[in-house]
Amino acid sequence: MTTSDGAHPELLDRRSDYPILGRRTYLINNSLGAMHRETRRRLDDYADLWDTEGVVAWNTWFPEMMRVADLVGAAIGATPGTTVLRANVADALASVASCFDLGGPRHRIVTTAADWPGTHYFWTEQVRRHGGELVVVPYDEDGITVSTERLVDAIDDRTLLVSVSLVQFRTSALLDLAPVVDAAHRHGALVLLDAYQAAGCLPVNIAANDVDICVGGSVKFLCGGPGNGWLSVSPRLVETLRPAAVGWISHATPFAFEWDDIRYADGIGRFAGGTPNVPAAYAAAPGYQAIVDIGIERIRERSQSLTQLLLDGALERGFTVRSPHDAQRRGGHVTIDPGNAEQVHEALIERKILVDYRPGGGIRIGPHFYNTADECREVLDAMAELARR
Ligand SMILES: Cc1ncc(COP(=O)(O)O)c(C=O)c1O
Repeated sequence: MTTSDGAHPELLDRRSDYPILGRRTYLINNSLGAMHRETRRRLDDYADLWDTEGVVAWNTWFPEMMRVADLVGAAIGATPGTTVLRANVADALASVASCFDLGGPRHRIVTTAADWPGTHYFWTEQVRRHGGELVVVPYDEDGITVSTERLVDAIDDRTLLVSVSLVQFRTSALLDLAPVVDAAHRHGALVLLDAYQAAGCLPVNIAANDVDICVGGSVKFLCGGPGNGWLSVSPRLVETLRPAAVGWISHATPFAFEWDDIRYADGIGRFAGGTPNVPAAYAAAPGYQAIVDIGIERIRERSQSLTQLLLDGALERGFTVRSPHDAQRRGGHVTIDPGNAEQVHEALIERKILVDYRPGGGIRIGPHFYNTADECREVLDAMAELARR
């Protein structure tokens, strides 16, 4: 059953859980997902515990951190107990990179020109300081996609890690994951998948896809807000990894405060690092829970239908679309250039229609399960009017 808007009724019923939807046309979920109304209450719960229980609050906070990490795990199809919360992707990457020696025969990091700039800066500096080689597969001639064939061809027996995004932040192009995982594993390399732009809007299924290591964060379609990056490592791999960037909670018995060499915590616990960001996890839980409760397949279906409406509407209005036209090859946003995109973007914000602008791309519009088809038409009509001025 669907509403006249084409949405499953449960999705639109949830609009009242996200108060900003009553105040703004909110179409920027690929940048900052809307805040769930329960987030305020959860932050109060966190503060109440601190205020009333003091140090004893840790007895609640530690298990809660693990529960919330597993909510992310559920959203990305990870095996339970294999995901840990970290500050952000940059922080998770530092922990992952500290497991490897870039000076050996397996010393190549294969990535693409379409990947997240922060990750590119990270690997560039790692290679500069610790040796190894960064292999960057360029964009195709269309400037939107990176050919899977070229990426697969760049992977060889010298490859240590294939560090790629599932959904590209600029154009929303979706990686064809299976051949990349297959090529990496055939050559004895590991896949480090950045699923930030994908998590919460399409199935990532890291366990089913045999992804070795997955990183991401919460500010986008997971609607978890800032402060929670995450790292998930395959259970077949995790016990073999020995991170150098550790903290006291990475220890098997942190409260023993041993002074010897670290004895790693079992499994993903070795990547826990130092004292966790408890308020961020409390704030994020309602957003994560909604994604898990709705189910990622249903969200993907709705997302594809709304992004297709945006894409078709943009082409009808004569705009340039810098995202794949095939919904199967696209993530959760569409990048549209109506001409003078920067100015149009500023005028949209003034009208309380929230989208964003990326140089070299255009205006990014990322509807979520709670958006309506009318909201998507509204932004297209406003862009057409503003572009004509
Ligand atoms: C693909 C991707 N990776 C990473 C990030 C952010 O990285 P960090 O969590 O280090 O700020 C973004 C943010 O927009 C992104 O789109």
